Amino acid sequence: MENKRGSWGSNIGFLLAAIGSAVGLGNIWGFPYKMGKSGGFTFLLVYLFLAIFVGLIIMASELALGRKTRKAPIAAYKAVSSKYSWLGWFAVLSPFLIMTFYSVLGGYCIYYVIINLIGLFGGMPDGSSFGAMLTSIPASIGVLLAFMAICFVIVAGGVSGGIEKFNKIGMPALFVMLLIIIVRALTLPNAVEGLKFMFIPGYAVAGGFIEEAPNLITVLGTAGGQMFFSLSLAMGAMITYGSYLGKEENLVKNSGIIVAADTIVALLAGIAVIPAAVANGINNGIPVNEIKLNGPGLLFKTLQDVFHNMGALGGVFGVIFYLLVLIAAISSAISLMEVLSAHFIDKAAENGKTLERKGVVLKVSAVITLIAILVAADGLGENGFAPAALLKAKVAGWNDCWLDFFDCWSEGIMMPLGAMLMALMIGGEIGPKVMLDEIHNGEHSPFFSKFYRFCVTYIVPAVMCLVLAGQLTDFFGNQIVSYIIAAVCFIIFSYHTLIPDWKKIDK
Ligand code: PFF
Repeated sequence: MENKRGSWGSNIGFLLAAIGSAVGLGNIWGFPYKMGKSGGFTFLLVYLFLAIFVGLIIMASELALGRKTRKAPIAAYKAVSSKYSWLGWFAVLSPFLIMTFYSVLGGYCIYYVIINLIGLFGGMPDGSSFGAMLTSIPASIGVLLAFMAICFVIVAGGVSGGIEKFNKIGMPALFVMLLIIIVRALTLPNAVEGLKFMFIPGYAVAGGFIEEAPNLITVLGTAGGQMFFSLSLAMGAMITYGSYLGKEENLVKNSGIIVAADTIVALLAGIAVIPAAVANGINNGIPVNEIKLNGPGLLFKTLQDVFHNMGALGGVFGVIFYLLVLIAAISSAISLMEVLSAHFIDKAAENGKTLERKGVVLKVSAVITLIAILVAADGLGENGFAPAALLKAKVAGWNDCWLDFFDCWSEGIMMPLGAMLMALMIGGEIGPKVMLDEIHNGEHSPFFSKFYRFCVTYIVPAVMCLVLAGQLTDFFGNQIVSYIIAAVCFIIFSYHTLIPDWKKIDK
C-alpha cells in the first residue's frame, strides 16, 4: 500500500540519510566563512560547546519525538502537547520557506558543474560567471527546474527506495571528493595563510583579514544559528526521519554520530575552501581584506576564480568540487521535501484515505518551484524586483533580496523560536522523562539522563534566547531592540509553559 509509512532499510541507511540532511550548503559554504569572520578559533570553541550542549539534546529530542509518535511534525506535536500543538506548523512552514531558496542555490551548483565541464574543453570560466548567471533569468530558472526534478525523483522513490539509496552512494562519494579537494587546496602556495585564518586565535584580525573580531555574544548568536541550520534542527527534518526509525535503534548513539559527522565535514569543508580562496587571492596580489570570503561570492565567485587560475586541471577540480556541493545540496533538500510530503501522506492516512506518494511529492515540488522561480528570477536582488526595491526601503538584511526575505522568516525567526519553545515544552510541560523514556527505550543511562535534564531545562532555552536575539540583529539591525524582543518572547512563553491552567486563568 502506497500510504503505509515508510521505514529505513537499516540503521546505517538512516544514519547516512540523516548525515546527508545535515551536511549541506551550510557546511561547505556557511561554516568556513562564519568561522573566519567570527575570529576563527573562538567561533570553533563556541560552536563545539553548542553542538554538545544544545545540538545533541535537540537532535535526540527530535528523533525521539518522531519515533515515539510515528508521525510527521504537526501530528507529532499534537500527540504530545496541548499547549504547543501548534509548534508543528513552524516545523512545516520553515522547511517550505527554506526550500524556496535552497533549491535555487542547488540550481546554481548544477550551473557550475556544467560550466566547469564545458571549461574542460577550453575557455575555463572565472568568477565573472556568477554575475552572468544571476542576471540570466532563463538560466537561473532552468537550473532550478533541473534541481527540483532530481529531488522529485528521489523523494518520490520513497524513504528506503529513494532517500536512503541516494545517500548510501552520495555520502561516501561526497567524502572522497572532499578529500581530493583538500589535498589540492593545501598544496597551493600560501594555503597555510588560510589555515592560520581559521585556526590561530586572533589571526583573522592580526593577519589583516578583518578589522575587528565580533564580541562573544555576537559569536554565540552566529554560531548558534549556524549550528541549528547545519544540523537540520527545528525544521521537522529529524522528527520526520526519526519517525521511520525502528524502536530498537540507539538514539543517543545515533544523535552523537550525526552531530559529530556534521561537525567533522564542516571543518573539512573549511580546510578545503578557505585556504584555496586565501592562497589564490594572495598569489594574485589581492590584499587579504579584499578576498571575498563570505556570502554567495565565496562559493560561486572566489572559488571559481581559484579553479580558473589552476591551469590545465582546474576544470577537473571545478567539476569535482561543484558536484560534491551539489550532492550535499540534494541530500539536504530531499529531507526538507520529505517533511512536507510526509505531512500530507500522514494527514490523509489519519482520515482513512490512501494518497499515492508520487502525486503528493509532485504537488509539493510544484508549489515550492512556483515560489522558487521568484527567488531565481530575482538573482540575489540583481534584477530589480527584490522586496527592498519594491518597498523602496532597505532595512538591514531582511529585504535585500527574496532569498534573504525567506531566510529571515525561516532561519532567522521560526528556527530559533521553535527550538526555544520545544525546550520549554519538554522541560516545562511534558517533562524530560517522557522524552528520556523514548530516547533510552526502557533502558536508562543515568549519566545521559542527568545531562539531558539539565541541558533541556536550563541551557537550551537560555542559549536559544540569545540565538534568537542574534538572528534578529543580523536581519533587522538593531541589537537592543532584538534583545528586548527575544527576552519578551522568552518570558511570555516561560510563563505560558509554567502556569498549568493558563486557559482557565485567562477566563
Ligand atoms: N543542514 C542543511 C545544511 O547545512 O545546508 C540545511 C538544512 C537541511 C536545514 C534540512 C534544515 C533542514 F531541515
